[in-house]
Amino acid sequence: MSSRRSQKYQSRHVDREPEEEVQQDITNQLPFTTTNTLEPSQIIKLYEHSFRSVLESPDLLDHVQTVKGDLFNRDYITAFSDEDRRLAYVARWTPYRSLCYASLFSSLEPIVELFKNNDNTSNVLCVGGGAASEYVALVSVFSRLRNSSNSGILSAQIIDIADWSSIINSIEKYVKSYWIHNPDKLLTDFVHDDILKLNNSRINFESLDLITLLFTTNELFAEKRPETIKFLQHLNSNCKSGSLLLIAESAGSFSNITIGTKKFPVQFLVDMVLVGKPGEDNGAWEIIEESESCWYRINPKEVDYALKLENMRFFFRLYRKK
Ligand SMILES: C[S@@+](CC[C@H](N)C(=O)[O-])C[C@H]1O[C@@H](n2cnc3c(N)ncnc32)[C@H](O)[C@@H]1O
Repeated sequence: MSSRRSQKYQSRHVDREPEEEVQQDITNQLPFTTTNTLEPSQIIKLYEHSFRSVLESPDLLDHVQTVKGDLFNRDYITAFSDEDRRLAYVARWTPYRSLCYASLFSSLEPIVELFKNNDNTSNVLCVGGGAASEYVALVSVFSRLRNSSNSGILSAQIIDIADWSSIINSIEKYVKSYWIHNPDKLLTDFVHDDILKLNNSRINFESLDLITLLFTTNELFAEKRPETIKFLQHLNSNCKSGSLLLIAESAGSFSNITIGTKKFPVQFLVDMVLVGKPGEDNGAWEIIEESESCWYRINPKEVDYALKLENMRFFFRLYRKK
């Protein structure tokens, strides 16, 4: 990372008020859970119930190994190319990612505010969210924060290049049965498409309150770099003022992108497009929360699951449109 950008990040932290410093702690270590989301055991139960036959299948571990190989080779399109692979991913990787994202969303005040005491519809778009980690986390936070006296609605749109529709359907059915008893309060729309095509009329960027790009930005850059920059520029010109954008990716060199002979952290490139050149900050978005390295650790005393629940370390940025 360039020294100018690093200096800028440091000065942002120095400028914070004392009570914000407390908030800053959570950006390095997320709590296992918070009072703004359902219990981790409830989230795990969703997966155990919705994917019981997958978890009991004698072929599951073989499919997990296949996906692991694809992910190791960074062949993401193949990793999610058939239903067996997708179901294996959901059984093996999605549960702990949902726990982590539920903690992250529910620790970020602007996201909490979106659902708390809100009588309106909160429009959220999850880019690359077909595996449902962030969808489950969002619904978990929404169902905890929404109370019977407010009439808020969560409209969750999920766009993904792989066909995760049956998986989203199973999860939607579960959350409507066990978490959100009034089905009118949750609108779910899975869009099977390439976000980089940008000609999808089902997505109304101007209406969005929150966009998530969780562990997807690296893939977009790896697939089509110029189109990914265009997509970010599209967010600059089409999102409304006040809308939020949350980006998270692996911390460290895994998220480096090579341009010519130089390597850049993906967040450096994204910030250049969204926030502006280091030191100038003349872009369309401002960073309101960030961490270069944030841990989410599983508390094994509180959750039990048939497959390994992993700790996560990642960087994140929460941007707000100016
Ligand atoms: C590593 S997975 C991350 C899944 C999920 N967001 C999470 O954090 O658990 C990346 C996802 O991005 C999707 N994806 C990759 N390229 C895409 C594109 N061009 N348009 C939409 N989705 C894409 C993949 O199909 C996959 O579901």
